[in-house]
Amino acid sequence: MAEVELTGVKKVYGKNVVAVKDFNLKIKDKEFVVFVGPSGCGKSTTLRMIAGLEDITEGTIKIGGRVVNDLKPKDRDISMVFQNYALYPNYTIFRNIAFPLTLMRIPVEVPVTDKDGNVRDVKIKNRKLTSQEIADRVANAAEILGITEYLGRRPRELSGGQKQRVAIGRAMVKNASVFLLDEPLSNLDAKLRSQMRSELIELRKKIDTTFIYVTHDQVEAMTLADRIVIMKDGVIQQVGTPTELFDMPQNLFVAEFIGSPKMNIFRTRLERDAEGYFVNLCGVVKRIDGARGEIFRKKDIQPQDIVLGVRPEHISLSNHENPEAIPCVIRVRENMGSSFHLHVQTETGEELIVRVPTAPFTAAQVEKLVSGTRIYITFESGVTHFFSAETEVNLLSDSDDAPVSVTVAEESSSAEEPRKKLRRIS
Ligand SMILES: Nc1ncnc2c1ncn2[C@@H]1O[C@H](COP(=O)(O)OP(=O)(O)OP(=O)(O)O)[C@@H](O)[C@H]1O
Ligand SMILES: [Mg+2]
Repeated sequence: MAEVELTGVKKVYGKNVVAVKDFNLKIKDKEFVVFVGPSGCGKSTTLRMIAGLEDITEGTIKIGGRVVNDLKPKDRDISMVFQNYALYPNYTIFRNIAFPLTLMRIPVEVPVTDKDGNVRDVKIKNRKLTSQEIADRVANAAEILGITEYLGRRPRELSGGQKQRVAIGRAMVKNASVFLLDEPLSNLDAKLRSQMRSELIELRKKIDTTFIYVTHDQVEAMTLADRIVIMKDGVIQQVGTPTELFDMPQNLFVAEFIGSPKMNIFRTRLERDAEGYFVNLCGVVKRIDGARGEIFRKKDIQPQDIVLGVRPEHISLSNHENPEAIPCVIRVRENMGSSFHLHVQTETGEELIVRVPTAPFTAAQVEKLVSGTRIYITFESGVTHFFSAETEVNLLSDSDDAPVSVTVAEESSSAEEPRKKLRRIS
């Protein structure tokens, strides 16, 4: 059993650096949870508080149902992998992995007998692991990680990815119920990172434990997580499956953080007439029909300044004029192999990115998608996202989650800048 539960957790460094605020989260046994967010948002601090490497200013942390606030790291049944894997350079890989086991003690039941040899009681004593037990655990971890053949080598004789696997092996051998990883892949090159990501997905199937993984990379979060916890300025912005975050971001911050290239935005105004809701985008009136229009009607959303978002992959393009389509000019074409990223500009100056799969295009068509070409873009209202310009909260969202809306609202109302940027399109 290794549920992890954080209730009202807060961390203040020194007198006034508030790194984490009112963090509430219940992580299920064997769940893979990823903390993601920009640099300085409090991911490592939260992980280190769970590990017991940082004191908690306020709140409670439970691991396996037990409050661990005052327990030392070694007593919390956790193991941790850091970004800087710090292997001992003069030890063999075997000794590097075995090292934590040499310090470990395991509880054993020892019978207490009387002078006639009858068992009167059972006492729990802690004993060291035997050399054989250590060798077995190292061999098992090495096999799972595919590093058996390197056990006799020294760290300098391994590649970055292999060293990272050794660091994971060193944490694995403890058989802890919670596995904490802080940016374990960030000092690997892009190709190795992607390989290690798939290996972590495989590893997760083989070791039956709870994972809490910290990264600032949304791709890692999307590919690894059962649930993502997205943070900003020490506050949870949203908790959900990768699909939930992608399809229904609670606020503009989440919308722009998840997805690559990031979501395009238009600052405009939501209007309402007898037929329903509509927006005016670069001179083109787009009616909001279908499910989204229905939700607006049900919630009786009032006309207001909004930020409209549409993901690059949800935009279609054509070379024919059409009253529904927004005219644009291609500025830059990036060939990503399986798709193009077209950086386009509307007549009213908005810069957008359109992602188009390479496949349906013939070589002759591709030739035409060059800088300076005029194209027309369209998208369905079913793939658009609507955020309040004032609070940046998703107007379609059901949740009135206080930490999300309050924080964002405070920031945007204290700063005049975002409002000044609002441009009404008529
Ligand atoms: N020991 C410390 N003393 C004072 N402030 C600290 C300390 N450690 C972290 N902070 C501050 O707390 C905030 C959160 O830091 P944290 O290391 O948790 O961020 P992070 O999300 O892990 O960022 P990164 O992606 O850069 O690793 C930051 O503003 C940071 O400057
Ligand atoms: Mg960090």
